[in-house]
Amino acid sequence: SSDALERALGLIASIPDHPTPGVVFRDLTPLFADGAAFADVVDALIAPFAGRFDAVAGLEARGFLLAGAIAMRTGAGLVPIRKQGKLPRATEAQSYDLEYGSATIEAHRGDLPAGSRVLLVDDVLATGGTLGAAIRVADRLGWDVVGASVVLEIDALDGRAVVSGDGAARIVSLF
Ligand code: PRP
Ligand code: HPA
Repeated sequence: SSDALERALGLIASIPDHPTPGVVFRDLTPLFADGAAFADVVDALIAPFAGRFDAVAGLEARGFLLAGAIAMRTGAGLVPIRKQGKLPRATEAQSYDLEYGSATIEAHRGDLPAGSRVLLVDDVLATGGTLGAAIRVADRLGWDVVGASVVLEIDALDGRAVVSGDGAARIVSLF
């Protein structure tokens, strides 16, 4: 219900000047720590795409927590999209800029067959760099990105406008 989601939103903390001055960091750990709120949020992330994905791709690191829960709730498989250097086999990789630095993410070739219907998931959409890079990786792996679900979007950063590619029109943010 929307009351339950409002309660979950209220659990998200805001930390000024983390990890660098001028950034207000939104911290979802109190939400994750509350079992009812976590379940409500997981169900809300699934709902717009229910029955339409074969696998969920979690974006390191906090996206992993959501992806595991979504996979177990729906029967979908799970693939990690990781920071560079963590995955042991051949990958597709993409570099991107963040609100506080730059990074490269990658996913294994061959974890999923081409044409798999994949839901991307993360906690926060900020500048859109991470999600945009994930969509480029997914496209190169031949995944059919059905959309992206995030818990929180930082509207002022306009990440949606930065995210290009097939999944862009289907980004759902709960807050
Ligand atoms: C955060 C967040 C998203 C991303 C959003 O992760 O969890 O993945 O940044 O920012 P963007 O829209 O500007 O790309 P972070 O890169 O801090 O990595 P971590 O979860 O591994 O700490
Ligand atoms: N919280 C979590 N992840 C983030 C944020 C934030 O405020 N900004 C960019 N990535």
